[in-house]
Amino acid sequence: MNTFDVVVLGGGSGGYAAALRAAELGKSVALIEKDRLGGTCLHRGCIPTKALLHTAEIADHVREAASVGVDATLTGIDPARTAAYREGIVAKKYKGLQGLVSGRGITVVAGEGRLGADRAVIVGEDVYQGADVVLATGSYTRTIPGIEVGGRVLTSETALELDVIPNSVVILGGGVIGVEFASVWRSFGAEVTIVEALDHLLPAEDETSSKALERAYRRRGIQSKLATRCEGVTTTDAGVSVALSDGTTVDAEYVLVAVGRGPVTAGLGFEEAGIALDRGFVVVDERLQTAVPHVWAVGDIVPGLQLAHRGFQQGIFVAEQIAGLSPIAVPESSIPRVAYSHPEVASVGLTEAQARAAHGDAVVAYEYNLAGNGKSEIIGTGGIAKVVRVANGPIVGVHLVGDRVGELITEGQLAVGWEAHPEDLAPLIHAHPTQSEALGEAFLALAGKPLHTV
Ligand code: NAI
Repeated sequence: MNTFDVVVLGGGSGGYAAALRAAELGKSVALIEKDRLGGTCLHRGCIPTKALLHTAEIADHVREAASVGVDATLTGIDPARTAAYREGIVAKKYKGLQGLVSGRGITVVAGEGRLGADRAVIVGEDVYQGADVVLATGSYTRTIPGIEVGGRVLTSETALELDVIPNSVVILGGGVIGVEFASVWRSFGAEVTIVEALDHLLPAEDETSSKALERAYRRRGIQSKLATRCEGVTTTDAGVSVALSDGTTVDAEYVLVAVGRGPVTAGLGFEEAGIALDRGFVVVDERLQTAVPHVWAVGDIVPGLQLAHRGFQQGIFVAEQIAGLSPIAVPESSIPRVAYSHPEVASVGLTEAQARAAHGDAVVAYEYNLAGNGKSEIIGTGGIAKVVRVANGPIVGVHLVGDRVGELITEGQLAVGWEAHPEDLAPLIHAHPTQSEALGEAFLALAGKPLHTV
């Protein structure tokens, strides 16, 4: 028997953050991981896909180089060298993470763990006993019943490993994964069709953002079939044939299934140990404790936004409670969300519709068009900066569309998280020329003193 203050099951963003913070606070920690530390985000998600998006951005820049007076010709994209660049980034970050974890004295256990009774975690023949246990087993790609994944039917994991540039792709699901891969493949020259069951791309976002993205994608030649479902996929010699609920079929070389991710909680002994599950997600209280005292859950297995940075925050939050501190829970509504597509879509807080549902008519929204922003004009991006406030009250939502706006959402997060009023922010100066001025203009307008707008 191995005894630790904290046993963490799963070494992804949520699990390793909990382990690092607990160790920093003087706890002995075992971190159990069946694959590689860093999990989905580092190896199959955030990091490699953003590297792929960077390659796509460079391809677009080369294509558009002549418009700024640079003569360059895009002669090709080499999947092997693209992969080498991407894998190099992942390898460096992985090495850094391993160093960090061992530097804090954390015991990393390689193997698949299973929760037993009384806060024991069983790995093969070994038992790791924790005074506290943190469950952080992450998520898997959901599929559509009747559609078998494999071969030309891709998931985000296999799409990353594709060693050819596809000529045509149908993407099932217009959520974050769908719009990011659509962006990459279009930049690489593919014909792309997105099939989304709901009325808009990124349907959880403010409608203004979704519509702005849809317009931008139309201009890029990306087809979107909205309010349309996939009825079935047939594999042919040349690729796939996708039958849609509007009676049409779309043929392509590949189809990507991106209809959401489910929690990894089955077959791990959770329910037998007394943990309550709801549709596979772990039921927790507001302090992220499960139905079993001293067993906590973090990351994608907890209902809510499935984002790496939420996992980090939850891991830290749980570790601090285990160490006897009283951390403040960050509400889900002040977690920033970014789709790293071209253009990017970034947001924090309530959509205008949600704000109206919560506050009735006492809501004011202001939309600034990036066409008026010098830096956006220089880098050749259009888009919007929309700020939603309660009348005479705080800012409750910030919604941005445009290249590079993901970097601006931090300011929106501070505004929403600190419940700032536009009048508090109006005196603060934004450097000129930056894209952040778009937010400054929206704050000024909402404070009743517009500068470059009416
Ligand atoms: P998602 O939940 O964001 O989007 C799935 C979309 O598929 C939804 O819009 C849904 O309406 C649609 N859909 C469901 N069934 C369908 C069907 N049969 N036919 C057509 N459309 C259908 O899930 P996604 O994009 O797979 O991403 C999974 C998770 O990974 C998300 O929670 C996301 O937040 C996270 N992620 C975050 C990224 C980021 O922050 N940049 C990047 C990639 C993933």
